[in-house]
Amino acid sequence: MLPHMSVPVLVAVAWPYASGSRHLGHLAGAYLPADIYARYHRLAGNDVLMVSGSDVHGTPITVRADAEEVTPGEIVERYHSEFCRQWEMLGISWDLYTTTGTPNHAEVTQDMFLVQLRNGCIDKRVSEQFYDPAGQRFLPDRYIEGTCPRCGYGAARGDQCEQCGTTLDAIELIEPRSKISGAVPELRPTEHFYFRYSDFTEKVDAWLRTRQRWRPHVLNSSFGWTNEGLQDRAITRDLDWGVRLPVDDLGEGKRIYVWYDAVIGYLSASKEWAARRGDPDAWKRWWHNDDAHHAYFIGKDNIPFHTMLWPAQLMAYGGLHLPDNVPANQYVTFSGAKMAAGRGVGLTIGAGLSIFEPDALRYALAAALPEHADTEVSIEEIARRINDELVATWGNLVNRVLSLAQSALGGAVPEIPQRHPSDTALLAATDDALRDEADCIERVELRAGLRSAMEAASRVNVYLNSNEPWKLASTDPDRAAAVLVTALEAMAGVRVGLAPYLPFSTEALDGLFGAVERWERPELVPGTAIPKPVPLFAKVDPDAIDLAAGDGA
Ligand code: MF3
Ligand code: ZN
Repeated sequence: MLPHMSVPVLVAVAWPYASGSRHLGHLAGAYLPADIYARYHRLAGNDVLMVSGSDVHGTPITVRADAEEVTPGEIVERYHSEFCRQWEMLGISWDLYTTTGTPNHAEVTQDMFLVQLRNGCIDKRVSEQFYDPAGQRFLPDRYIEGTCPRCGYGAARGDQCEQCGTTLDAIELIEPRSKISGAVPELRPTEHFYFRYSDFTEKVDAWLRTRQRWRPHVLNSSFGWTNEGLQDRAITRDLDWGVRLPVDDLGEGKRIYVWYDAVIGYLSASKEWAARRGDPDAWKRWWHNDDAHHAYFIGKDNIPFHTMLWPAQLMAYGGLHLPDNVPANQYVTFSGAKMAAGRGVGLTIGAGLSIFEPDALRYALAAALPEHADTEVSIEEIARRINDELVATWGNLVNRVLSLAQSALGGAVPEIPQRHPSDTALLAATDDALRDEADCIERVELRAGLRSAMEAASRVNVYLNSNEPWKLASTDPDRAAAVLVTALEAMAGVRVGLAPYLPFSTEALDGLFGAVERWERPELVPGTAIPKPVPLFAKVDPDAIDLAAGDGA
């Protein structure tokens, strides 16, 4: 466990491209795990700063705008506001969710660029870049496709091969073709700024060797790349959409490359958060502090940018805190009969929210997080988890205890009665489960953490079955009351353990147990009214789900 002082924890979450709707795979890959982790750390008493925003630059945006014949700004506005609505509905507890289109972000990016230029980590080079003779323009990387020089995948993009994850320069592609005209692009000289990543191979490699408790797949793929050596990369592009350069050596028509500026978002968003709360230096508590803990929540395709390129950029700038963990997730793949109509990408977040309650969706995805391997889910599987796990274990327990307590305790929490050893044992097991879960969440084993919380709920069910308070009500009412008070106390503890995963249904019990404010089982307050049970979650009927009612697959 982290030391028991308040630790500044930066929860840094991948910046989604505002170029199209995001899917449940993105939610399970980065946003949901980040939110669970952040909510836990707040309850554990740490100082959480959870930031991200929409990534509004780069060719994913311009490709989409060209296709729809609208401006990039219109695309960005449409999807940024969609994301903001969905985070709200899902209860993603950002301290700040912004965009890379702000003046602040441009300023922070330009400052980094200038310092690194002065340090000799950035230089200017003329190189041959692909030019589309038909379209009469230089082709940014996403406009070019070809064969990956590393794994031979035939449809690698100019910036990255989706098959093997290697980051690429378009010029490395074998048999490149223009995605605009289909033409074979020709090489023309053009001048750009380059970041000298190759100067950082040893430093990054040595730093990676000091990282502890990282996921094996994250470290292994990173060492694979440092063994080959980092490559210098152009960090400007022949584009008119992106952060402007702070120097005018290159003339018009050049912008900073999206992957150089997007990762800087973690820092610029921290500064924006501080400025907005009227304490412009507050970000330093996370960034100029060796004792801070920085965790980056991303999907596996983003690993090299976060374990090598961003650390190199931070080292080149100097004085800023490096990543402490990059618990990248693998992919969620969708299958099952209901998915047959989809194109293999599964449901959009909007469609998921139109079918399932937010907590139920959070539960089912958290139980299937792809922490160590690609994980397959289907509508049927999500429905099964909601019905057979969430409703059957936690939903029913709450219902059962509240209705029994209503009738046996006269509607209010009594004084804590004389305890039996089995009562004390249940409460001790509930407390142990919270400790075990804390340990899991700190290691970013969020699936295991949820399992631990659900086992604690099952134990209360088992306790009720063996003590049968409904039978005791006539024979030994005092004992019946003791059992029900104990069950309520244990329930209060289980609820704390579920709070990071299920924020909405947790809040529904505030009246009885008080708001969850600390990572510990709260005392019951005698005299508190016991509310009438209302179902926390509805069962779902997988056969009644109409995918067409959602906003598409
Ligand atoms: N926009 C990128 C994507 O959707 C992720 C950027 S994450 C950041 O894959 F590191 F650049 F912020
Ligand atoms: Zn490849």
